[in-house]
Amino acid sequence: MRIGVLTGGGDCPGLNAVIRAIVRKGINVNGHEFVGFRYGWAGVLNNEASDLTLESTRGILHRGGTILGSSRTNVYKTENGLEMVKQAMKDSNLDALIPIGGEDTLGVAGKLHEDGIPVVGVPKTIDNDLAATDYTFGFQTAVQIATDAIDRLHTTAESHNRVLVCEVMGRHAGWLAVHSGLAGGADVILIPERPFNIDKVCEHLQHRHAHGATFSIVVVAEGATPEDGGLLTQHQTTDAFGHVRLGGIGIILEQEIEKRTGFESRTTILGHIQRGGTPLAFDRVLGSRFGVSAVDAITEGDYGKMVALRGTRIERVPLSEALAEPKLVDAELYETAAVFFG
Ligand code: F6P
Repeated sequence: MRIGVLTGGGDCPGLNAVIRAIVRKGINVNGHEFVGFRYGWAGVLNNEASDLTLESTRGILHRGGTILGSSRTNVYKTENGLEMVKQAMKDSNLDALIPIGGEDTLGVAGKLHEDGIPVVGVPKTIDNDLAATDYTFGFQTAVQIATDAIDRLHTTAESHNRVLVCEVMGRHAGWLAVHSGLAGGADVILIPERPFNIDKVCEHLQHRHAHGATFSIVVVAEGATPEDGGLLTQHQTTDAFGHVRLGGIGIILEQEIEKRTGFESRTTILGHIQRGGTPLAFDRVLGSRFGVSAVDAITEGDYGKMVALRGTRIERVPLSEALAEPKLVDAELYETAAVFFG
């Protein structure tokens, strides 16, 4: 078989592990051939493709980012997009596609499947908000980076008696905020699933400081919203999937906290630092397992599926199940993190 591979959406630690695994398993075990499209769906639309070989995928396991490049391109927002995908597959003589991505990239994959294109998806995002899989690859690395940052912020918070706000990624779901906040000992964690009341946040900080605390750490997901308002961001632009560019809620929090409590406050927006650099072993292993499993699904003609981690096993789930709605932080996990807010 000849198979096309692409990586779409935000880059993510472990993408290269997936690409390498697909090629290694597919060529060495199944005798398949691979073509890599550049920059996600953009490369398919522009027919920007080159062979993916054992040689071209050597030495990439530990590297962050994606050797294929990535973009946020929506095939279904492009005139004749479906026809262009079909043409690109015809030109490269492809039997199937393996898109590696999050809700948007795999959302396109799900529609292509409905339109008769053979696809198997691999779940990627540091946000960990894709349903039907316990974890996406990249998430653990991002959690570790954010936790390391929170550890370092403690130093300044403690030395200067400040409130330090740490803004992490997480558009729809606060997985990264809850995991890094729990691991880093945050005193407040604000997530999209639970709109916050700024008065209560400030009361909580004042209560802590009145009972012996000399500093506080607030972790906020970029998609967290106040009870009485919508998304707060410093940007107006939206991407091809209609998502507004986030970032800046931390600064607003810092200003409000300082104004209302009198505690000196500062914000750190971690931004793309969370997605950069080498993947943890966990994400290299998960990415490798996902890649191998995706090739198995393609080889068996089990299309329209996404490979998924269920417990300790890799399984296949319908793309439609994975894309039905985002996977949100469950109440029990949040309540566990909240035990340590005092
Ligand atoms: O990959 C998902 C994500 O990390 C979101 O949490 C965040 O809103 C977005 O990427 C930012 O992406 P970009 O690099 O396109 O600004």
